[in-house]
Amino acid sequence: MTFSPLELLEWRQGREATAAYSLADSGCRPIRLRDLIDDEQTLRRLLDSELSYPPTCGTDQLRARIAHWHTGSTDHAPQVIVTVGAAEANTITVDTLVRPGDHLVAMSPGYRQVWGAARNLGADVEEVPLDPERGWRPDIDALARAVRPGTRAIVVTTPNNPAGTVLTEEEIRAIVSVADRAGAWILTDEVHRGTELHTDELSPTFWGHYDRVVCVGSLSKAFGMQGLRLGWLIAPPALLPQLRQRHEYTTISAAGTAMTLAELALAPPTCARLLNRYRGFLRESWTHMRQWIDSHDHLLSVVPPQATSLAFVRYHLDLPSTEVADALLAHGKVLVSPGAHFGTEHHLRFTYGQEPTHLAAALEKTSYALKELSA
Ligand SMILES: Cc1ncc(COP(=O)(O)O)c(C=O)c1O
Repeated sequence: MTFSPLELLEWRQGREATAAYSLADSGCRPIRLRDLIDDEQTLRRLLDSELSYPPTCGTDQLRARIAHWHTGSTDHAPQVIVTVGAAEANTITVDTLVRPGDHLVAMSPGYRQVWGAARNLGADVEEVPLDPERGWRPDIDALARAVRPGTRAIVVTTPNNPAGTVLTEEEIRAIVSVADRAGAWILTDEVHRGTELHTDELSPTFWGHYDRVVCVGSLSKAFGMQGLRLGWLIAPPALLPQLRQRHEYTTISAAGTAMTLAELALAPPTCARLLNRYRGFLRESWTHMRQWIDSHDHLLSVVPPQATSLAFVRYHLDLPSTEVADALLAHGKVLVSPGAHFGTEHHLRFTYGQEPTHLAAALEKTSYALKELSA
């Protein structure tokens, strides 16, 4: 079996160093430590903390705060495993659930970590295309046709990376009903929850809708804490021992200091402050991004995202997306992500939620590079 790398990240190797502007990272505008540690007492607590092994699945306080984030209550805290980023949570979930020959169904475009990890284990991952003409909304009938008795899992990302769509409660219930008919698991990556553009309501979660669901989350996006490498999963009790055993092999635990900082970030007043901060950035930057796309209306179009710092932009050139992305790098020194790495050609993913002057300079260079390319 050949091993496929996570193309999205692999492609950046070597290219990142040559870019003057990166609009390729899906987490943007990180916070500083001082945004979290804003009083003497907290600072002293951190300086005095021992760098000992933390509890494998995370501190009780952190698990309770994560449970509250996903479920609105702390009752499910024992079902939380704190991981090194959502990346680890996705990996150990695939490792736990997927065996060679299993059939999984994923939506495309999508973040392809679970897709690739399952294929690397010898699974057959069928993709159900999302259609920009339908606003990238899922086609439940197409999903139902793809899922069959014995399908191991349906793979979902909401809010979607790269399309920025948010599944509604109704769509969630419809997907659950398709999974239930087949006895399939749902692996739901909800890492971009909290990045809503038009509402202060958190995006709906699959948690609580179905008993065979593993929910993945992280502090990497809405909290601006991607460097902390702090993520989690919540799963039904029966699956937890297997997930924990894989977690023990992989990392033993996330870092203790990261857990302490995560507890601070998820404490109610700080959590609300950080979400407001990030959503404020996104709302401001989206206006600029949208104007820029509209100013190239012969060449570019977009289904506006409902959440995420991502714009999945269609270009109207008959060229593969890796070629267009390479041309933007060569002529404009701007790094963006090719749509091919999300399973959808003729698109580029821009991380628009950047600081406005950085974004404006990057987009100006992109305009220049696109002009060169389409001349
Ligand atoms: C949908 C999705 N899942 C998982 C990850 C990985 O997140 P983390 O930084 O928490 O490992 C990303 C990062 O871009 C993502 O967009």
